[in-house]
Amino acid sequence: MKKLSRDIIAIIVLTILYILNFGIIAVYYLTVKEDAKNLREVNVSSVTADGTLYSLSDFDVTIGPRGGDSGAWLKDPILDEEGNELHGPSVGIIYEIVMKNTCDATITDWTAEIYMPEFMWLNNGWNGLIEFHQTTSGEERIQIVNLREYQSAEITLDYYIDHTGPMIPLAKGDKMVYMPSKADNEYPLVPHSDTEEVNSSAIVGFIVYVPDQGLDYAPVFDNVVFKYHLSKNVWAEGPFLVLVGLDIIWLVLIIGFIISHIRVLKLLKQRQHDAMIIEQSIKTFINFVEAKDPNTKGHSERVAEISYALAKEMGYSSRECNDIRCIALMHDCGKIAVPVNILQKPSRLTDEEYEIIKKHTTTGGEMLRDFTSIEGMSLGALYHHERYDGKGYPNGLSGEDIPVIARMICVADSLDAMNSNRCYRSRLTKEIILDELIKNKGKQFDPAIVEHVLKLIKQGVIKIGE
Ligand SMILES: [Fe+2]
Repeated sequence: MKKLSRDIIAIIVLTILYILNFGIIAVYYLTVKEDAKNLREVNVSSVTADGTLYSLSDFDVTIGPRGGDSGAWLKDPILDEEGNELHGPSVGIIYEIVMKNTCDATITDWTAEIYMPEFMWLNNGWNGLIEFHQTTSGEERIQIVNLREYQSAEITLDYYIDHTGPMIPLAKGDKMVYMPSKADNEYPLVPHSDTEEVNSSAIVGFIVYVPDQGLDYAPVFDNVVFKYHLSKNVWAEGPFLVLVGLDIIWLVLIIGFIISHIRVLKLLKQRQHDAMIIEQSIKTFINFVEAKDPNTKGHSERVAEISYALAKEMGYSSRECNDIRCIALMHDCGKIAVPVNILQKPSRLTDEEYEIIKKHTTTGGEMLRDFTSIEGMSLGALYHHERYDGKGYPNGLSGEDIPVIARMICVADSLDAMNSNRCYRSRLTKEIILDELIKNKGKQFDPAIVEHVLKLIKQGVIKIGE
């Protein structure tokens, strides 16, 4: 029973831990997911034209002219349709934005808002779309344009077309929002690690023309705003995995305890069934014995009940108490071998007849020799007529040499005999019984056991003289 309640307590505690832990996991997961919806913003000011690396909290970025042979070049003066010069020669420069994820989350949906430090034309852009905010006509015109695949008729901004494509003028303070292409893998930018660089960085670019400047000129974009979302993979987070691991452990333990609990319940049921079979078999056998001597009917069962109460009082375990009850039930089983005429003889027995009666102890002990499923089964039958002072039979054992179960049955047997009507006398009064018990302490009975019996009589657990 203790194991059963331990199992139930363990199941309850583990279930509480599991639910609490699951709650923390859910909150953790939802917090990370919610955090991914936050639009983050970082402003890079005074972006120099030399491609300086800016290490920001979540990524590194460089913005600057692409070097090498494809660097700056001069463009001829631009003429209108009548051949008039719109302005003089200009310098063309390829700019690149290089983004590199340096955090442990994925950067998604990033954009770069680039504010114009001076008048210039934007001529080309790749790996994404550009949203123009243009004020050159006196009012703000906004349009998203794919400078690689465009339809001239659909452009609503100020622009003109030359042999390199659309030239879109932007005034000082206008902005263009660079929106990288997912199709070109410019986002999402996965977390960077030393061994895995694929898709953790992006290079996007555009071409500007600045009028009336030489080859050595490059404008400085002094205000670039990056906007982006961070998406963390909770399954790559140590604390989250520890929580999930713990929850799996709790769950496995809960299932384990439930299985163990069910097995113990089945075992207990089986044990109760076995105990019932044993008890019913014993009672049936006792019915045979008592059928030979109806005067003592019920005696064995009463002795068993007194012995059981005594065992409980003496602090034996529940299982030991039940065993003692069975052993006490069988204490007179040897009487089955005693002739009926001797058992039922109303007058005084001859010495010879008494010797025959006395043999029910050794006969009982012998009969129970093979009854090993209850430890000490034969001891009750064999020694219950031994006396504490050594004057009993069959072996004349004394004191502690007599098995304790036999000493207990000895007192219970005598008590019930005194408390029962017999063919040769009526039951004794309570006073006489108590007197007999006390008088025989240390003689017939174990004094300590008598004390326990007296206590049980006083408490009304053992009833006599009623
Ligand atoms: Fe007996």
